[in-house]
Amino acid sequence: KQGGSEREKRHAGESATQAVSDGMVVGLGTGSTAAFAIEMLGERVEAGLDIHGIPTSFQSRQLARDAGIPLTTLDVATPDVAIDGADQVVDDTLIKGGGAAHASEKIVDTAADRLIVVADPSKIAQALCHPVPVAVLPEARATVSARVKELDGTPELRDAASKDGPVVTDNGNLVLDCEFGTVSDPKKLATSLSAIPGVVEHGLFVGCADEIHIGTKEGVTVETL
Ligand code: A5P
Repeated sequence: KQGGSEREKRHAGESATQAVSDGMVVGLGTGSTAAFAIEMLGERVEAGLDIHGIPTSFQSRQLARDAGIPLTTLDVATPDVAIDGADQVVDDTLIKGGGAAHASEKIVDTAADRLIVVADPSKIAQALCHPVPVAVLPEARATVSARVKELDGTPELRDAASKDGPVVTDNGNLVLDCEFGTVSDPKKLATSLSAIPGVVEHGLFVGCADEIHIGTKEGVTVETL
């Protein structure tokens, strides 16, 4: 994963939490930048803020519990706002899934009334060119790979760093990192990927972001879309 400094990520995460107020349900994103938002929300909960969080992964659930944020689920609540990181940001379109959590992230982020993306400057790009993570049912690894190649992509099964074998998502799926070069029509590619049998979810979040909080060394730049 590429990445900015801890300081930049902290500034982005903390800035996004200013959008959270009493009574809100908050989608809690995954990754090292969203983690700063969760930490800050925990501090505010300790000081009396009344919110409920909906996590997007094992990691964010655990961080939220440690931070003392009461949790709820999409079964009974709708997020007013979601705060989540990204691997690449071009305007309001994102590529996510560097932490293999993009399926749950997409469910929660798109259910929210407002998605605030938290990022360091290394994530902001002019063109979408990051490989697109695609979560697949294990039995569909080969067939999805073949279909990705037909779309002129190069799929690579994501290997786990500290395990002999592939990354397995929180939901028991595998991840194919699919290199497409520059994605000029993300909507079309998103539709094509979603139509492949065995694809659980891909990391293209087309037109999803409402605000981007870009943490810098000095502070934060906010883009409202
Ligand atoms: C998780 O699967 C991802 O979508 C993360 O939200 C994304 O990789 C951003 O993570 P960092 O903030 O750690 O870069």
